[in-house]
Amino acid sequence: MTTIIFGGTAAYHLKLPDHAQVGERRIIDTPYGASSPFIYLTKNDHSAWFSSRHGEDGLQRTAAFVNHRANLWAAQELGATGILSWNGVGAIAAGLAVGQMVVPDDLLDMTRSRIASFESSDLATPSGQPFASELRQQLVEASQTQGFICATHGTYVCTEGPRLETAAEISAYGWGGAAVVGMTLSPEVWLAAELKIPYASLCIITNMATGRWALDSRRDFGPGVGVKGLQVTLAAT
Ligand code: HPA
Repeated sequence: MTTIIFGGTAAYHLKLPDHAQVGERRIIDTPYGASSPFIYLTKNDHSAWFSSRHGEDGLQRTAAFVNHRANLWAAQELGATGILSWNGVGAIAAGLAVGQMVVPDDLLDMTRSRIASFESSDLATPSGQPFASELRQQLVEASQTQGFICATHGTYVCTEGPRLETAAEISAYGWGGAAVVGMTLSPEVWLAAELKIPYASLCIITNMATGRWALDSRRDFGPGVGVKGLQVTLAAT
């Protein structure tokens, strides 16, 4: 079993040796360019290849500029049997609060200009079921075991960015059933599906979405977000 972890918001703040044993570091050449670096991490009986999609020591690229095709191709080259992704998100649905987790079970893709395919001739991408139920279950259990409040379902709306949404957009997405909003899940999830690699996401609520601020105005992009994400995703491997 080979698990890949894609780290999201604030992963670049992490001092990895504080949280796991750090092994080999690899950048993979792919038909789509060089991948982001992948670092081999072990902790107790758990191991995974970890990659921070926004950069290694700062926000080097925002969501719209991540080379997802290179990263997913590299995951396949590393022998991925499962991908765990963590994603910082804004909360849309009532009842959610900053610091809580959501393991989404559906995706509303509002991106406009990202390349979401390797251009294979396989049209069977199972977009009706973007997330792998077994991996989702592992993430829910790992976050609950570690004392985090975790919603077991919810729709993630993926926006194009890099700008944040307007209040009107968030209202529309809320009417469409979205619980949380972020910019990173698409096209990662579609590319994983094309490569037939099971994929699940752990969403960490960093803020209330635009116009939902009356409920909780905190915006926590601090190192704590990355620590939680690494902790839960490693425990789920
Ligand atoms: N909108 C889009 N992406 C995000 C947000 C948000 O409110 N919070 C974290 N990522």
